[in-house]
Amino acid sequence: MALALSLGQRGQGTCWPNPAVGCVVVHDGRIVGRGWTQPGGRPHAETEALRQAGEAARGATAYVSLEPCSHHGKTPPCAEALIAAGVSRVVSAIEDSDPRVAGQGFAMLRDAGIEVTTGVLADQAARDHAGFFLKTEQGRPFVTLKLASSFDGRIATSSGHSQWITGSKARRVVHAMRARHDAVMVGAGTARADDPSLNVRDLGIDNQPVRVVVSRHLDIPLIGQLARTAAQIPLWLCHGPSPDPERARAWEGLGATLIPCALNDHQIDATDLLQQLGQAGLTRVFCEGGSALAASLLAEDLVDELVGFSAGLTIGAEGLSAIGSLGLETLNSAPRFELLEARAVGPDVLHRWTRSFR
Ligand SMILES: NC(=O)c1ccc[n+]([C@@H]2O[C@H](COP(=O)([O-])OP(=O)(O)OC[C@H]3O[C@@H](n4cnc5c(N)ncnc54)[C@H](OP(=O)(O)O)[C@@H]3O)[C@@H](O)[C@H]2O)c1
Repeated sequence: MALALSLGQRGQGTCWPNPAVGCVVVHDGRIVGRGWTQPGGRPHAETEALRQAGEAARGATAYVSLEPCSHHGKTPPCAEALIAAGVSRVVSAIEDSDPRVAGQGFAMLRDAGIEVTTGVLADQAARDHAGFFLKTEQGRPFVTLKLASSFDGRIATSSGHSQWITGSKARRVVHAMRARHDAVMVGAGTARADDPSLNVRDLGIDNQPVRVVVSRHLDIPLIGQLARTAAQIPLWLCHGPSPDPERARAWEGLGATLIPCALNDHQIDATDLLQQLGQAGLTRVFCEGGSALAASLLAEDLVDELVGFSAGLTIGAEGLSAIGSLGLETLNSAPRFELLEARAVGPDVLHRWTRSFR
């Protein structure tokens, strides 16, 4: 199952709106098939692993990191494929919360006389599939908030200078993290200050994550990296009810997708923003700030994981705080996270924190 889970992770960031599943088929103690959900969400992991196994699937055990699907979607149900292949046992990590499946995949297998074991490495599976489950259950994607800050928790100087706070090794890790998410998102302040391209570089990947920029009136520079690459790499601009019509036309002409969102207190409503992204199919969003967007997401309890890179420099009180105003008076109402990991990356420190997500 550990292998099935790690194979499943290979699909993260490329197979949305489907879950990133892994499957291993074992016959007489030998691995005869391995598969994971392919880019675009099809073929499914089971189909891939069974195809590899061929006749060796008969009488074998299939380890699957999520309950095999039981409904006819764009592909026939994986539970049917496992039955047809003649496997004698299915070991699954966790039940699918999609109401079209929700236990029916297991029931279908049991009805066909297949032995079914569930709940193996379920905690790890819940973490891996958290984005898919959140989208199914709450309509929004999993949100990772990543910020690179100085020792004193600043993400830019008072003039907006932030490149680069951390070293090249940390930036390389960030690119690998981007690749594991369906989308990379920033606020318009970051798009205006940094002219970012928000793509994955130097990792040789074929499927770039969607870039998402949040701006009420589409006040994003029409000359710059985002505009230059809008036709090649998906760029979604989340705007308010009355964007600047000329800018809207210009961005559409460049190839960007415009997504209207509701306003709340003169800013884009963070809850509606994520609902819109969930409706568009995203399961995992990597938000890279800045300070204001980070605060909006945290204030609405919409951040599932924090990723911090802390560097050995100090910027001082006039620098930009990593997180904008949260309006808190007591610690009781401060969003709290549990430590997942802390390690050195080159000269910087990486720390990851989780909100309990199930
Ligand atoms: N070190 C790091 O990790 C890091 C990461 C990112 C950014 N930065 C730095 O941070 C600075 C930018 O941060 P920032 O706080 O000024 O800007 P930001 O959070 O990137 O963007 C804020 C802007 O986004 C738009 N927006 C729309 N709805 C919003 C909502 N609900 N909540 C927040 N913003 C919303 C608004 O622009 P509209 O008026 O267009 O709607 C708002 O002014 C830059 O200096 C950048 O270099 C550093």
